[in-house]
Amino acid sequence: MKRAGRQRVAESRRPRSRSTIVATPAGEHIPVLLDAVLAALAPRDGAIYVDGTFGAGGYSAGLLAAARCRVFGIDRDPAAVRRGATLAAQHPGRLTLIEGRFGDMERLVGDAAPGPIAGVTLDLGVSSSQIDDAERGFSFRLDGPLDMRMEGEGESAADLVARLAQEELAALIRSLGEERFAGRVARAIVAARQRGPIRRTGELAAIVREAVPTREPGLDPATRTFQALRIAVNDELGELDRGLAGAERLLMPGGRLAVVAFHSLEDVRVKNFMRQRSGGVAAVSRHAPPPPGMAAPSLRLLGRRAVRPSSDEVGRNPRARSARLRAAERTAAPPWPPGTAAVVGSAMR
Ligand SMILES: C[S@@+](CC[C@H](N)C(=O)[O-])C[C@H]1O[C@@H](n2cnc3c(N)ncnc32)[C@H](O)[C@@H]1O
Repeated sequence: MKRAGRQRVAESRRPRSRSTIVATPAGEHIPVLLDAVLAALAPRDGAIYVDGTFGAGGYSAGLLAAARCRVFGIDRDPAAVRRGATLAAQHPGRLTLIEGRFGDMERLVGDAAPGPIAGVTLDLGVSSSQIDDAERGFSFRLDGPLDMRMEGEGESAADLVARLAQEELAALIRSLGEERFAGRVARAIVAARQRGPIRRTGELAAIVREAVPTREPGLDPATRTFQALRIAVNDELGELDRGLAGAERLLMPGGRLAVVAFHSLEDVRVKNFMRQRSGGVAAVSRHAPPPPGMAAPSLRLLGRRAVRPSSDEVGRNPRARSARLRAAERTAAPPWPPGTAAVVGSAMR
């Protein structure tokens, strides 16, 4: 089943020079599902692409190598944008780096781009360099300040852990971490913070490990609580919703959207968005206008299933393990206004 999904996206249009793409500029970061993302985006000479999660520049480098295209690379992390200057210098006039959020991509790219946008890609979550830097506070394995802010501004994870009431903490850890022992974790956090503020990732990880009564092979008990806090601190699901809708509005007809998600909360949003926007009108008529009040499909799915990394890729890069790529092509129909219904028998199946 995984293979079928991979083939359908890969069949869509093959990028040129895929063999030239072997590493990122820093030579340390391995982009996840890069070949499949490029196959989905099918880069063309003269076209303009948006890499909404520039990170270490792996996808941007792949696009720039695959065609004589232009790329707008967005990242909310100022350090990622600074590091991208090296790649931009290697491709004069072809890579524009923008510090900001992909939820604002229309505003960030719309006026700056010299033409229509042929592709948007998002590789969600945090980068290896963010996780591996203890000072950023994302990792439960490395002791550092309990921060987790991608932009380095606003409320940190330590602030959130100090501010929220026990029930709010439990609800957050349950909904954004899918932690079934959220109640116990929240109780343990509140008990611990009465003894003094929780300021370090190491302290929080120890509290959570103590509170979670069971062990899953290969999964640190702190994983889910840290995921929940990171998503909340960075409003990652709100950003994803805004980013998907922004891409729908920004893409030209025939333009491609390729999104890589790493956990089910993200993937279900991507899946529902793409399926809903691509749903149903063909069941009425390919040519007839949709019924009044209903929107015509603004997307066409590229492959019915998510593309997963091969066991080879997971062997080379264990962080790819949970990645899922979904891709779609923009139709000529107008973008859906927020809250629009799908046409007859929407494709939410
Ligand atoms: C998984 S990494 C991307 C890696 C990249 N594809 C590569 O190959 O190097 C995710 C990056 O997206 C950035 N990011 C996450 N959410 C963002 C948002 N809403 N807007 C802009 N950048 C975001 C993070 O700061 C991080 O650098």
